[in-house]
Amino acid sequence: MAEFHDLAELALNRDNQSWGNLGYWKKDTEYSGACRALALLLGEDARLDEQSVVFDAGFGCGDQLSLWLTHFRVVQVRGVNLSRSQTAHARDRLAEAGFPAAAAAIVQGDINDGQAWHATLGTDRPSHVLALDCAYHFPSRLEFIALSHQHLAPAGRIALTDFMLADQHRTGSITHQLLRWMLRRSHIAEANIVHRTRYLNQLRAAGFEEARIIDISQHVMPGFAHFVRTFQGKARAGWKARLKYAVTGRFLQCAYRRSILRYCLISATKKD
Ligand SMILES: C[S@@+](CC[C@H](N)C(=O)[O-])C[C@H]1O[C@@H](n2cnc3c(N)ncnc32)[C@H](O)[C@@H]1O
Repeated sequence: MAEFHDLAELALNRDNQSWGNLGYWKKDTEYSGACRALALLLGEDARLDEQSVVFDAGFGCGDQLSLWLTHFRVVQVRGVNLSRSQTAHARDRLAEAGFPAAAAAIVQGDINDGQAWHATLGTDRPSHVLALDCAYHFPSRLEFIALSHQHLAPAGRIALTDFMLADQHRTGSITHQLLRWMLRRSHIAEANIVHRTRYLNQLRAAGFEEARIIDISQHVMPGFAHFVRTFQGKARAGWKARLKYAVTGRFLQCAYRRSILRYCLISATKKD
């Protein structure tokens, strides 16, 4: 059966890379480099180190799992991804790179399903839960935050890159109708896209403290839009994927210019 999240993004990457996020375009000008830069930013904000045990929600095709293990030298990664094709791809990549299953235990499943967490974690408690450019796609980000709190070790950290409504954006406006249409098209639950104050309150209500949101939109949204407009290797992507990128790029450019959405780096610590 066709999947919404599949291997289409492979066509955007340089050889042997398989990222699938919006990228951080402050210095990078090609897709794989920009995606890796966004992952690095998240890992740094999460404060990953040699003691970390990472639970990665929505790990895509797995490049980020290798990054946590090699760049940040974390002890172990676990993860859940809804996509069957991406999870299989990630398993192959990890095996090719020589990581034993004990270092990187990943499963296919829905992050809002508590069983999926148990399947990869057992009774272990990760020091970090990460969600790189995917929490807006989850059926419920609130439920994801609650499960993260439940499974994290004491003083564990949650870190995400995610969309939220711009402070100026009014939910009764015409532009909000455009946003709702785009969210439906992109399989994103409307309840996941909230203002920054509400986002912070949701983290605090779930039992997190030191919650911090950094707006990185200017280096993400216009950069991705420019990339899809000018990408030379379009022929490698199928027409459906090309259409998806073109619409997403245009929408992100508009959502940035008209202050509808913001793209942010979010982190918080589990309260004792
Ligand atoms: C935009 S992609 C980002 C992929 C990857 N993190 C990266 O940066 O390359 C969104 C990811 O979230 C995953 N995802 C979406 N809904 C999910 C869910 N309910 N449970 C687990 N993973 C999910 C998708 O399969 C996909 O891998």
